Amino acid sequence: MRILVTGGTGFIGSHTVVELQQAGHEVVILDNLCNSKEKVVDRIEAITGIRPVFYKADICDKAALEAVFDKEKVDGVIHFAGLKAVGESVKKPMMYYENNIAGTLNLLEVMGNHACKNIIFSSSATVYGDPAFVPITEECPKGTCTNPYGWTKSMIEQIMMDVQKADNEWNIVLLRYFNPIGAHKSGTMGENPNGIPNNLMPYVTQVAVGKLKELGVFGDDYNTPDGTGVRDYIHVVDLAVGHVKALLKFAPGSGLSIYNLGTGHGYSVLDVVKNFEEATGVKIPYSIKPRRAGDIDACYADSTKAQKELGWVAQREIKEMCEDSWRWQKNNPNGYED
Ligand code: NAD
Ligand code: UD1
Repeated sequence: MRILVTGGTGFIGSHTVVELQQAGHEVVILDNLCNSKEKVVDRIEAITGIRPVFYKADICDKAALEAVFDKEKVDGVIHFAGLKAVGESVKKPMMYYENNIAGTLNLLEVMGNHACKNIIFSSSATVYGDPAFVPITEECPKGTCTNPYGWTKSMIEQIMMDVQKADNEWNIVLLRYFNPIGAHKSGTMGENPNGIPNNLMPYVTQVAVGKLKELGVFGDDYNTPDGTGVRDYIHVVDLAVGHVKALLKFAPGSGLSIYNLGTGHGYSVLDVVKNFEEATGVKIPYSIKPRRAGDIDACYADSTKAQKELGWVAQREIKEMCEDSWRWQKNNPNGYED
């Protein structure tokens, strides 16, 4: 298939482009580079031997989207483009609602205008809020999000469900990711956070490489075996493969599909530190800090549905995730910056 990947130079997008191309699909990337670098296109080409078509364009610019769709005939869209910093979304909610929601409305409208009605959307386990139960199945009720970023995911899901209900020519796949970490085996592509990382793994790797002094562990009094927060970390390449498998649902008549993409295993913050140290031989100094607002005890997936319907199962375990994150950080201490 020929697939338009919005946000295709970002962390998850870039790994997905590689897996798409290696599975024989053609890719057109659209990204405004607000949180990524065009250099990623070179890295994709170096890995796959194929240079994807690249457009620097903004999903909030409807005319630019129209121009891309006029030029490029695509069978469907994988939609990663969006802002994702939780803390920033609390400070700048309008920016998040505008970029993520208005941008997605534009995209859906322009797709409809071009009779392109197949889309996979990057949703998040954050839509479950403090989950009613773990492991979380897709039947788990959606919850109250603790920040505007999370609400944009929840609201876009609702918009897409309504669009599909109104016009059943649409095939829409909502993929709810758990916690993506890791990097491409080549060590040439990985996560490139701006400033001090908010998420656990990039913080750990920056401590390991000496950019940060020690890890702050946010709370040790959660209702979990060691008191620190438990999450379902998933290798970004497994997640990328999940998108390739989800293209199955572009078959006519597929309608709406929702899948959790996680490993099903929960690891605490201290488990991650221990696994990272064992996998890399690098010690991670840490100290216990107060809880971070909005954090929950435990969040991990039941991904049986994706296994049954897409034939997808996460293959890479926690040590490999740590090794690959570390290789990327070590080879590229400043990410994609020179
Ligand atoms: P990322 O920031 O690395 O990638 C997002 C890409 O979208 C960036 O390249 C950015 O430049 C681009 N972009 C943002 N706004 C745009 C716009 N208006 N027009 C065009 N391009 C735009 O983030 P990621 O980690 O790769 O996440 C990809 C998607 O998955 C996001 O929608 C994110 O919310 C979602 N998601 C991420 C996680 C995670 O932990 N990384 C978890 C759940 C869901
Ligand atoms: C967070 C977001 C979620 C988003 C996801 C990926 C919140 C409340 N949730 O998920 O919406 O989809 O990132 O961007 O922000 N931790 C530390 N020290 C650190 C960093 C994290 O102890 O320096 C702990 C956290 O308390 C948590 C675990 O590590 O228990 C994972 O944190 P993180 O990587 O930020 O992911 P989530 O909070 O699960």
